[in-house]
Amino acid sequence: MSSFLSWALGLGFFLLYAFRRFAFRRRLPLPPGPKPLPVIGNVLDLPTSRDWLTFTEWGRKYNSPLIYADALGQGILIVNSPDDAVGLLEERAQSTSDRPYFPLFFLMGLETNTANLSYGTLWRKHRKVLHQSMKKDAVERHQPILVNQASQLLRNIAKDPSSFMRYCKIYSGSLVLDIYYGYDRSSDKDPFFLRAEDAVVQISRAILPGAFAVNAFPLLRYVPRWFPGAGFQDWAANAKRLIVEARNFPFDLAKANPTKDDGTSTLVGQWLQERVLEPEDEPVLRDVAGSAFIAGIDTTYSSLVTLFLALTLYPDVQRKAREEILRVVGTNRLPNLQDRPSLPYLDAIFREILRWRPPVPLGIPHKVSRDEVYNGHFIPAGTIILTNYWAMTRDESLHPDPEEFRPERFLNSDGTLKPGTDRPYAFGFGRRVCPGRLLAADSIWIPLAQVITMFNITKAKDEYGNDIQPSLELTDEGATCPDPFQCNIVLRREYDDWR
Ligand code: HEM
Repeated sequence: MSSFLSWALGLGFFLLYAFRRFAFRRRLPLPPGPKPLPVIGNVLDLPTSRDWLTFTEWGRKYNSPLIYADALGQGILIVNSPDDAVGLLEERAQSTSDRPYFPLFFLMGLETNTANLSYGTLWRKHRKVLHQSMKKDAVERHQPILVNQASQLLRNIAKDPSSFMRYCKIYSGSLVLDIYYGYDRSSDKDPFFLRAEDAVVQISRAILPGAFAVNAFPLLRYVPRWFPGAGFQDWAANAKRLIVEARNFPFDLAKANPTKDDGTSTLVGQWLQERVLEPEDEPVLRDVAGSAFIAGIDTTYSSLVTLFLALTLYPDVQRKAREEILRVVGTNRLPNLQDRPSLPYLDAIFREILRWRPPVPLGIPHKVSRDEVYNGHFIPAGTIILTNYWAMTRDESLHPDPEEFRPERFLNSDGTLKPGTDRPYAFGFGRRVCPGRLLAADSIWIPLAQVITMFNITKAKDEYGNDIQPSLELTDEGATCPDPFQCNIVLRREYDDWR
């Protein structure tokens, strides 16, 4: 009897709790946002390009850090403030760490890319391997490769300064290929490298808002290729060929040659030898390495191009950075990562690059896996969360004059770095935070310090001797990047032998 009573009481409490929770949630409003039309919701309001700008504007218009929109019944929550990103993606990580399903990624063979995996067992395996290879001491072990690749970058720029953007791209891709697979490009026109780059371009296209109707209407995935309007099927099949090759070719090479000529192990070789996962999990290792290449190349590239843009537009920043290098390192050698703690101004430049031009302004979408209540708002399960780093880095109360490139904002008056500013928003929040952020930081910091040491960078001149003003626009792709621009890069006399 007593067990029946406690059972009945338990059920009663549960029903009361469930009812109150349901009733409470139904009374709570969604966050503010543009008024939806019946059936199509806000489809007509949603931007078709540079969406981070519109979403930042909506934040001002609706005077709210959270904005809710609806696209054909799909809820979209835009998070415009870092505090709310922490509140949602960190404090409620259990229900906000999933990813939405994009059918095009399946068609392109990207469903097992780390960034697209659902929040679950397979994703945890990926993160375990990534963590082991991208944590602090592991990243330190990759320093010789970084230094070697950076000196290749400097030599290339010294010889052919006008192609600096191309060399930044080659550096960003070669780094990951070298670290993970020990893959050595045969030349700047290495056919595998070019195809792998092309694979990344195809992926950037697929994630443009409104790029392909199949993302909005998942059933289209099953439309046969010959059907009128199903051209995306051929496009995706072609992209898949490139992506699968970019994943398999260097992995198979690294498997066959786990050790490099200098006796060091490639990361993939090390994983296989040390059995970081069970032997049947080899496809997981393949996917992890492939995901790192795709995630690392354009983001690192974008930050390096931003560095050149900032140095071109802000000669004072260049001067102060060079003074710091001269004072701390002198002229007998190039700065290296061991100098980093003694060069706070350079670190402030690094932080400002990621603030001024976050390479992925809207991050990678998260999905809410169960109904949530947040700050008096109801957030339905299935809602897609877009973390708008652009809005966060434009918040005047946190970053006065946000359009100015001003490293000093990260410094105290005595020149030391302000505490709490070493976690750029640009790497994301919560459990899906970028696992490659330490490697990314080092691989941006080394060229940053060494480029400033070796080169004078000024605005390019037109045929009449007038300064050419670089564009401040950003490309609108998966990872955004400053629009191509020219600048005048001159090797300083002391480094003439690098030419
Ligand atoms: C400046 C350089 C980089 C930036 C700004 C950047 C930014 C980001 C962002 C915003 C995310 C999504 C975070 C989220 O979902 O909340 C992400 C995820 C990811 N990044 Fe990076 N990243 C950079 C470089 C790298 C590098 C060098 C690697 C690997 C070597 C890498 C590997 C990844 C992977 C695998 C994910 C997916 C994580 C997951 O879904 O669990 N990233 N990154």
